[in-house]
Amino acid sequence: MEGSVDHNETLDSLLHEERVFRPLPQMMIEAGVNPQDLRAARELADTDLSAYWEEAAEELDWFTKWEKVLDDSEPPDYRWFTGARCNIVYNALDRHIETVNKNRLALIWEGEPGDSRQFTYYELYRAVNRFANGLKSLGVSKGDRVVLYMPQLPETVISMLACARIGAVHSLVFSGFSARLLRERVREIHPKVVVTVDGFYRNGQVIRLKEEVDRALIDTPAEILESVVVVHRANVDVDMDSARDYWYEDLVRHERPHAPAEIMAADDPLFILHTSSTSGKSKGVIHSHGGYMVGVHRTFKWVFDLKPTDIFWCAADPGWITGHSYLVYGPLLAGTTTVMYEGHSLYPQADRMWNIISKYGVTIFYTSPTQVRTLMRFGHRYPEQHDLSTLRILGAVGEPFNPEAWIWLHKNIGKGQCPVLDTWWQTETGMIMISPMPVSVLKPGSVTRPLPGIDADIVDIEGKSVPEGKGGFLVIKKPWPAMFIGVLGDEHVIRDHYWGRFPGMFYAGDVARKDEDGYFWIQGRADDVLNISGHRIGTAEVESALTSHPHVAEAVVVGVADKIKGQVAKAFVTLNYDVVETDDELHSELKSHIHRELGPIVIIRSIEFLDELPKTSSGKIKRSALK
Ligand code: WTA
Repeated sequence: MEGSVDHNETLDSLLHEERVFRPLPQMMIEAGVNPQDLRAARELADTDLSAYWEEAAEELDWFTKWEKVLDDSEPPDYRWFTGARCNIVYNALDRHIETVNKNRLALIWEGEPGDSRQFTYYELYRAVNRFANGLKSLGVSKGDRVVLYMPQLPETVISMLACARIGAVHSLVFSGFSARLLRERVREIHPKVVVTVDGFYRNGQVIRLKEEVDRALIDTPAEILESVVVVHRANVDVDMDSARDYWYEDLVRHERPHAPAEIMAADDPLFILHTSSTSGKSKGVIHSHGGYMVGVHRTFKWVFDLKPTDIFWCAADPGWITGHSYLVYGPLLAGTTTVMYEGHSLYPQADRMWNIISKYGVTIFYTSPTQVRTLMRFGHRYPEQHDLSTLRILGAVGEPFNPEAWIWLHKNIGKGQCPVLDTWWQTETGMIMISPMPVSVLKPGSVTRPLPGIDADIVDIEGKSVPEGKGGFLVIKKPWPAMFIGVLGDEHVIRDHYWGRFPGMFYAGDVARKDEDGYFWIQGRADDVLNISGHRIGTAEVESALTSHPHVAEAVVVGVADKIKGQVAKAFVTLNYDVVETDDELHSELKSHIHRELGPIVIIRSIEFLDELPKTSSGKIKRSALK
């Protein structure tokens, strides 16, 4: 049973957001997918799901086409594009080399100290092939696993693609994790090779990553791991084990810039990626070459309404699914220019992100609510110092996007001209699932409607759809191509947990409600629901209400036991930098603010003011730590 969600009730919904933003006429005229197209796509997907995704798959190159688009004969073992042969890297690189994209910028990278490197599609293709050959020279072949313990560097992208090109399975381990976690992952994944860097720049410091690798690999037998490849980045002295360690540069120097793309079955594994768990144990989610490619390509192009002139910046780390799908694979599949930044968003000062947008003429900026709230604490002075006029679309993912932060982004960064797309999805889904498109009518705080082909609903504990306005469990009722194909070391979790909680439906683990327009509002994780005097309330609503106060930057709410009410709320808050009131003044002010916003139901026992909230490495608030 999930946390406090233990009886047959729905959730209460207290938050009322009345603001509505309609697409500007120019957006309607220029959109690649207009409302009529969207309606037609939804109709097609509703009547013939396979036909919709087949049409999406036809936009990509396949070595052999599928026998069936979707084999759903043994649910929940859904298989996409059965019998098909492909390679995602062939589609991300080789396909573009044959077109005008050849000389287009594939990757713009900026280092934290201000250095910059750029790769055209042709250059990236050659670099990937060289390293693919380098990996082969170390004995890596189809089906082998490679751990990439790497920060945001071009070589991280190159390594991912080089692995996938030769059919090896990559597994990124976030560079902010320590030796202990890397050791755990290596023992779980059994990679043939680990790729890493000497060090990298983060918030003005050099992080000595190779030292972590050495610590992690003490006593690791060669049966588990044969080689370590080290990229030069920060010129730090490192110990090289002559039997195990290779410099990346030495390895690729004499390799040919041609390597054939391995012919993969559509459901051969592409990567393993661990979920960024805010509470329980993280799972090693496995994605495929074929279905993942189709889902990511379609959603990237449609959600962000891609134009040939776009410069796309996804500010997530490649160590997370957002980085995989929309920093690396999505943009490259679509032939777009993708931007990557090595360092900290506040270094050397709080305008770094705005500086990067203006310097490279970023047109689409995809970020997270956490990042927006962090930058918002510094007010509008910093964004005003930069030319942000190239921006045309803003997006976010990862946590409930509180309306105040949404509005701030819309007003101060988008200057009222850019739609803000709040996209809901997960490591397991691989691709965006519920999200507006640039032609959608937007409501701040809502992820709007499921994309075509996605059958999402809200159900009660028995799996029955709940009425409009009531909250419940978010489920997906039909399979989608980028769905994960497995979980490392756990054959039963898909059947028992994800598709077993409500038979025939994918259980996302979030609570949400649908409004009268069919718009979805995510209310938080199911494990975090508050239960105050029998009223069950999603944490996101209380947090949104707190952050709607002009002094509050970030807020997190957890339930604490109460003899009379069952549970009451405890809040942790960070404030904007210009706040002068004392904690006591703010305490009562915020309590009455909550009362005004949500009514008398939500009882806040205490509010603690913190300088910073504890976050997971992917930037989500760590509720377990606060509980
Ligand atoms: C949360 C990130 C509210 C949600 C791509 C989900 C969101 C979890 C949103 C997955 C959103 C993601 N609004 N909550 N727009 N997007 N989430 O696996 O709880 O790192 O289940 O994937 O983040 O996180 P993950």
